[in-house]
Amino acid sequence: MSQHRNSHVILKQRADGLPAPELFELVEGDAPVPGDGEVLINNVYVTADPGMKGWISKARNYASVETGTTMHSFSVGVVVESNHPDVQEGEVVAANTGWAEYVVADPNLPTFRKVDPADAPLSTALGILGINGFTAYFGLLAVGQPKAGDTVLVSTAAGAVGSAVGQIAKIKGCRTIGIAGGAEKAALCTDVFGFDDVIDYKAVDDLDAAIRQACPDGIDVYYDNVGGATLDIVLGQVNLHGRVVICGTASTDSWIPQPTGLRPERNLLVNRIRMEGFLTFDYAHRYGEALADLSEWVRDGKIQYREDIVDGLENAGAALAGLYEGRNMGRQLIRVRPDPFL
Ligand SMILES: NC(=O)c1ccc[n+]([C@@H]2O[C@H](COP(=O)([O-])OP(=O)(O)OC[C@H]3O[C@@H](n4cnc5c(N)ncnc54)[C@H](OP(=O)(O)O)[C@@H]3O)[C@@H](O)[C@H]2O)c1
Repeated sequence: MSQHRNSHVILKQRADGLPAPELFELVEGDAPVPGDGEVLINNVYVTADPGMKGWISKARNYASVETGTTMHSFSVGVVVESNHPDVQEGEVVAANTGWAEYVVADPNLPTFRKVDPADAPLSTALGILGINGFTAYFGLLAVGQPKAGDTVLVSTAAGAVGSAVGQIAKIKGCRTIGIAGGAEKAALCTDVFGFDDVIDYKAVDDLDAAIRQACPDGIDVYYDNVGGATLDIVLGQVNLHGRVVICGTASTDSWIPQPTGLRPERNLLVNRIRMEGFLTFDYAHRYGEALADLSEWVRDGKIQYREDIVDGLENAGAALAGLYEGRNMGRQLIRVRPDPFL
C-alpha cells in the first residue's frame, strides 16, 4: 500500500459539447504504486489544454479518457520513488500523466523527460519549453515549411501555441499576422509577440475583408488552431503552393453531429494547397531538437511567453472550461502544490 494520500480529479461523465466543470470530481485515495521500471511523481503543475475537449468527448478522437479514471494531462513534478535505474529520487521530470498529486510514469516513453529547474521556471516545461513550444515548432517548421518573406497567418495568436508560432515565423524572416479575440489579446500580439499585424475577430464585421487587408499579398502559410468558418474564409486567400497546418479545432464545440461548411477541394486543387493534419506526439523523438532552439530563443529574448496559472486541482475543470471562452491569457496551468523552486 502507498504511504501517500492522493487527491486526483476523475472524469465522471463524457462530454456532448464543451467540457463543463461538472464533468469532473476531485476525489481522495491512496497514491498509485510504481511497478518495475516505473517512477512515482509528486506533481507541481498540470495543464488544461483545448485538445482535452476531444479526449473526453463521445466522438472518436486520437486520445480518450475513460470515465471513473484520472483526467489525463501533461505534468511536471518531482520523483519521490524510482524503480528505474536512470531516474533518481528528487529529479524533476515532465511526463504525460494526469490531474493528480501523485502519478506513476514510465521513463521509457518518448514523452517522459528530465527537466533541470536551474535552466528555466518549472512551469515552462509545460508551455513554451514543452508541449506548446514543441507544437508550434514542428507544426510550423516541419508541416508549414515557411520561407523568408512568406506571409504566415496564425489563429489563437495570443495563446500559448499561436504566440510561439508567430515568433518562430518571425525568427525565420516571415511577415506574421495574428487572429485573436479581444482588444487585450490583439495588443499582446503586436506589442509583446511582435506580430506585424493582428485581427481582433470579435471586433470585425467582415473577417474575409479584414484578412485581405492584413494580407494584401495573400497567405503562404496558415497555422490553423480554430478550423470552422475561419478556415473556410482563409482557404480562399491562400497562395499558390500555400500550406495549411491543421493543428486545432477550437471553434467547433462538438463533432456530433458532424458540422458542415464550404467545400475546400476547389481552392486546394486550383492553388495546389497542401492542407495537413498535425499531432505533436508524432515528433516526440525530436523534442530535444525543439527544446535546444526554443531554450536559446527564450534566453535571447527572441521569444516571449505568457502563463495563466490557477491554484488547486479543484479548479482544474473550471480552468479547462475557461479555455473555450477565451478567458485564459497564455498557457493555462494548474498549480497542484507550491512550486519548490520558486
Ligand atoms: N495538434 C497538436 O498536437 C496540438 C497540440 C497542442 C495544442 N494544439 C491546439 O493548439 C491550439 C491552441 O492551444 P493552446 O494550448 O495554445 O491554447 P490557447 O490558444 O492558449 O487557448 C485556447 C484559445 O482558443 C481560443 N478559442 C476558444 N474558443 C474559441 C472559438 N469558439 N473560436 C475561436 N477561438 C476560440 C481562445 O482564444 P481567443 O480568445 O483569441 O479566441 C482561447 O484562448 C488549440 O486548438 C489546441 O487544440 C494542438
